[in-house]
Amino acid sequence: MEETAKLIVDGKTYELPMVRGTEGERAVDISKLRDETGLITLDPGYPNTGACKSSITFMDGEQGILRYRGYPVEQLAERSTFVETAYLLINGELPSREELTRFSVLLNDHSLVHRDMLHFFDNFPRRAHPMGILSSMVNALRAFYPELPERSEEEEILVTFTRLISKIRTMAAISYKLSRGHEVIYPRPDLTYAANFLNMMFDSPVRPYEVDPDVAQALNVFWILHADHEQNCSTAAVRLVGSARVNLYAAISAGICALWGPLHGGANQAVVEMLEDIQENGGDPGPFIERAKDRQDPFRLMGFGHRVYKTYDPRAKIMKKMADRVLKKQKGSDPLLDIARRLEEVALEDPYFIDHHLYPNVDFYSGIVMRALGIPTNMFTVMFAIGRLPGWISQWKESMDDPGWRLQRPRQVYTGPNERDYIPMDKRK
Ligand code: CMC
Repeated sequence: MEETAKLIVDGKTYELPMVRGTEGERAVDISKLRDETGLITLDPGYPNTGACKSSITFMDGEQGILRYRGYPVEQLAERSTFVETAYLLINGELPSREELTRFSVLLNDHSLVHRDMLHFFDNFPRRAHPMGILSSMVNALRAFYPELPERSEEEEILVTFTRLISKIRTMAAISYKLSRGHEVIYPRPDLTYAANFLNMMFDSPVRPYEVDPDVAQALNVFWILHADHEQNCSTAAVRLVGSARVNLYAAISAGICALWGPLHGGANQAVVEMLEDIQENGGDPGPFIERAKDRQDPFRLMGFGHRVYKTYDPRAKIMKKMADRVLKKQKGSDPLLDIARRLEEVALEDPYFIDHHLYPNVDFYSGIVMRALGIPTNMFTVMFAIGRLPGWISQWKESMDDPGWRLQRPRQVYTGPNERDYIPMDKRK
């Protein structure tokens, strides 16, 4: 029997259909609500609103589960590569050997950026934030790579996807090199995706860089953990902007802007800045925890809390272990890791954090991993963006392929003045 929910308004009962997902989650379908009742729903910040059906990523915030296309993120982090995971997210299935080779060849073919784009990088102020540069450059890609009429729609989409995934990494490394006044290092066809990025970042004509396979592997895991997270703020931005049928570059550029915010991807930079602040103030996390609990103080413990996870973020568990491993290998130790561990210990025993279900999220330990890999603090969120790109692309693709696609356009409950007449300037108070 079809499940329904009942809504009673002004004594009249309306039956609303229910939807059930493959993992048993239930939703009340209100898509005909306004037509049938004249009512809308109000849900600021959308914690109770499902904006779409999606078969890409499943997360259970109570149990700390995250799966891409059904595969647990823990298994992918241990056994897959970022490129393979990107393929999985976009295409729905793990690739065969041939499919993966074809995908890698395409990534290699599209890894250079148009020479004229280098002038853009030259003209950003030196102190410009790399996320601002990245979102502008991704948007600019459309001007340099317009649609080609001789390509089929399918080919065009495939080229656009691989171009984005490949070039975003090249552009991130270029912006780093130019910010330091160094020569640009170009991608090499003999290196894997992660190794290529490390080489473009750290190789130099006077100091050749040898890619350490363990470091490249750590980067793969970092990116896999960030690859998708269902309807988070930046993905919702990509879907919303994309719903106006704008080109993919523009939609991704919007996602990058959303990710920049400190409540979202920008938290990884904010966490390390907070840990440095604690270090400069003697290393005791106590006063910072007290500030985070004070309602009068806007300060929040960065890297703690999540809209969906009400338990330990499964990505943070992996990231914490990786921070230990990478640090041992690269630097031996980092005082910020000790502070982070102390902070976590104290916070997890504090009734405020227990009652509010606030646990470390993915960003809590990721900055420490990035520091150990030699990535500068202001590029942490760029690293997140490179990782999230396959998720944004697959979510965009899913929304474009949806037969029930509609322009995303929420409504509102108006609370402003009622109609009134225009007041000439000399009559205004
Ligand atoms: N420190 C102190 N209190 C917090 C924190 C925190 N980090 N996070 C939430 N709270 C409190 C908040 O003050 C509120 O308390 P009360 O109900 O007593 O007024 C309650 O918890 C609920 O907060 P909320 O803002 O309504 O929760 P939300 O689901 O809208 O926010 C969040 C989620 C991630 C924005 C928030 O937890 C936060 O600001 N965390 C710090 C920033 C951060 O680490 N962001 C990265 C998120 S994970 C990666 C990603 O998505 O990019």
